Amino acid sequence: MSIRAFAEGLNRTYFDGRLSTDVVDRLCEMPIDREDVRVFVERQFRFMHAGRYPAHDVSPFQAGMLASLVARLLPERWEGRVPPITLAGRHRKIDALIAHRFPQPSRLIDVACGFPPLTTFDSAAALPGWDIVGVDRSLPAFVVHDGLDNYCVFNGAGEAEYFQPLVPTTDAWNALLSDWGGSKARFEGLLHALRHEGGHGGHPHAALTVDPALASERPGLRFVRSDLAGFDGEPANVVRCFNMLLYFDAAFRQTALEHLGALLLEGGLLVCGTDWTETMECRYFTYAKRDGLLVPDEFAFSMDNLSALGVVPWYTLHADDAEVTMTSKMGAVLRSEVSFEARLRTCADALRLEFGLGARRADGYYDDPDSSAAPEVMWANASAVSHRLDELLAADAARVLTHAGWPARVNEAGHVAVFLSHA
Ligand SMILES: C[S@@+](CC[C@H](N)C(=O)[O-])C[C@H]1O[C@@H](n2cnc3c(N)ncnc32)[C@H](O)[C@@H]1O
Repeated sequence: MSIRAFAEGLNRTYFDGRLSTDVVDRLCEMPIDREDVRVFVERQFRFMHAGRYPAHDVSPFQAGMLASLVARLLPERWEGRVPPITLAGRHRKIDALIAHRFPQPSRLIDVACGFPPLTTFDSAAALPGWDIVGVDRSLPAFVVHDGLDNYCVFNGAGEAEYFQPLVPTTDAWNALLSDWGGSKARFEGLLHALRHEGGHGGHPHAALTVDPALASERPGLRFVRSDLAGFDGEPANVVRCFNMLLYFDAAFRQTALEHLGALLLEGGLLVCGTDWTETMECRYFTYAKRDGLLVPDEFAFSMDNLSALGVVPWYTLHADDAEVTMTSKMGAVLRSEVSFEARLRTCADALRLEFGLGARRADGYYDDPDSSAAPEVMWANASAVSHRLDELLAADAARVLTHAGWPARVNEAGHVAVFLSHA
């Protein structure tokens, strides 16, 4: 099947053929040889359909992300490994929620902290006096900066596990990934030169750090290289596990919850979910430890899941993903309330226009974001829009959900939180 036939098929199946031609054209830039990408994109569209996401709100920008970004980040690109990527500021509102629930310094275990463990560093700054432990099975044994604005992380055997540009522009990514095997071999050669030959492999500004996460430890902040299943650290008041469970199926999730629950002290909080940057396009479950048991508490989500700039609201590797299933279900309930949907559209359109994020065109479809804005400016604007949407709509959404039989409130992070005892 050609990539165009595939993209047009998705349009027919999930959107009654109502996606814009720009969206279909952009989807056609998808790497045709990557089955994992095709399966991923189809799953995204199926979830959009389940959440009644309107065809007119799917933007060419989102289609472009699906066609290019996803191929770089899926585990298949990294020999099946979950990439360790993270972003500074990503869990800012989750840290605020934790601080609100636990005003006294306590212990936090950040499971699957990624590398560089920027969100764990953020938590250490946001939660002064806390004892914070970052845990990840692929904390690197070595990291090399190649002096050409790329870095690579390695396991103890010196094998390159993941590499990326420091400033991840499309051109910089393409330069690294157009010959993935060649880049991997170049990084491994560079590591060898730096470790064993006292040289720099032809890159005079290259730099090696041994055990980089451990090197960044300080009082109150530690890192442990461990799989969740094998980690037996001292239990904590709060356990966070973000942007990990989406890579695994429901059976894995069940087992993982048992391990995560075992790390919690009585009365403690487990928060696990997924978000993008600055806690936007965010969804998460909270659980409490009561009488030795892990009890589901709430499912919370940000309003931009219903009008997203990016693709994280549907980002999952499995059709039985609990978070995306709940986000879609709540989205469908909210959209079925006509006045809420109208208000959502009015607010989202006005904010996109104000922040240059792709205004609604005369034909009713969203345009591309302002291309003159640097990516970091665009995402900062997107997070401002996300937070404004929460301020404008979360209380209304909680009211609509409650009315529809899903008792909900606005939580301490400003997100809509649905009580799970009623789910
Ligand atoms: C995308 S990163 C998430 C980083 C960070 N938590 C965030 O939200 O930005 C996913 C991380 O999950 C880790 N991971 C996957 N499965 C794991 C497991 N079973 N135990 C520990 N870490 C795991 C990977 O090594 C990877 O670093």
